[in-house]
Amino acid sequence: MIPFASPLAQYNSHRDEILGAITHVLDSGHYILGSEGATFEKSFAAYCDVDDGVGVNSGTDALILAMKALDIGPGDEVITVSHTALATISAIITCGATPVLVDVDPLYYTMNPEFIGDAITNRTKAIIPVHLYGQCADMNAIMEIADKHGLSVIEDCAQAAGATYNKQKVGSIGHAGCFSFFPTKNLGAIGDAGMVVSKCKELGERVRRLRQYGWDQNRMTLETGLNSRLDEIQAAILNVKLKYLDEDNDKRRKLAILYHDGFDQLGITLPKARPNSTHVYHLYVISCPQRDILAEHLHNAGIATGIHYRTAAHEHTGYDQLCRLPKNGLPVTNKLIKNILSLPIFPGLSANDLNAVISLSRDCFEQ
Ligand SMILES: Cc1ncc(COP(=O)(O)O)c(C=O)c1O
Repeated sequence: MIPFASPLAQYNSHRDEILGAITHVLDSGHYILGSEGATFEKSFAAYCDVDDGVGVNSGTDALILAMKALDIGPGDEVITVSHTALATISAIITCGATPVLVDVDPLYYTMNPEFIGDAITNRTKAIIPVHLYGQCADMNAIMEIADKHGLSVIEDCAQAAGATYNKQKVGSIGHAGCFSFFPTKNLGAIGDAGMVVSKCKELGERVRRLRQYGWDQNRMTLETGLNSRLDEIQAAILNVKLKYLDEDNDKRRKLAILYHDGFDQLGITLPKARPNSTHVYHLYVISCPQRDILAEHLHNAGIATGIHYRTAAHEHTGYDQLCRLPKNGLPVTNKLIKNILSLPIFPGLSANDLNAVISLSRDCFEQ
């Protein structure tokens, strides 16, 4: 089976180095909040062109802790998209705030800034744009609206480590950037891990406190916090993988070009990269009305695909009552979820395997 993502291929390509890093941690006897975590926080913050990075337990916790550090809680509203991982919405709800959902734009599938104005009320505290599939949302327009209304912007960068927008790294544009290092992400750990990055030292310090019971440096509790520490083994693995992130993102972009060329003239909608940005193709998502037929055809030939996402976040049981939607609904999101299909893409995907995906897809359409 050709997988659509392969954490195993990523591990295998740096196996000795990763095993060496893990052994080093095991031999050190220091497993939580040590030098590997501190090094990763410093290196990843520098990579994102920000002053501070705080390692946490997951991308979901990164969002929760960033919101808590910005005093977002019950009674507040946070504007985001429904076309995202459920985690974005779940983090807002976990903070006690209400997710206010706006539609995505039909070209790039990220938050459509045109709809933000109507979603703002006197309870709105923040906007969470999601840099979906590996490319940045339209941050100039979003930041302009946020500045005008005094709102915080928390970038959900879970799918876009290393992507840029007008030469700025994702995570460095808003007030905070939240990353997931879930194993399938383009910078993936071998377990759960995440980070909050920020240009604001005070915000970073507050997240640092909140990730560990609300303790200050003397272990005095200043406020209620969580346990959301990044462990040393994951940090050591991420220190290895970060060195290869740009190279891996380049490989993803090259694979995307091969797909683009191979699917030319086939009548399917291909991912479109925003001008003045770099897409890192965490996912390669095509769109066509025959999505289910194509997925079945590929599956029968041993090719795995995914759907990101089959159900819009607000339509999940339990979430439907907790989100606020625009009067006209989310027509672009509703159309997308019926047509999108994620094809295999990861740095170890061979040209042969990629060509098999293309020729099988062509067979399916040309039958
Ligand atoms: C857009 C987005 N936000 C947040 C998350 C949550 O990250 P994690 O699974 O590390 O909690 C994910 C991961 O799936 C994601 O894709």
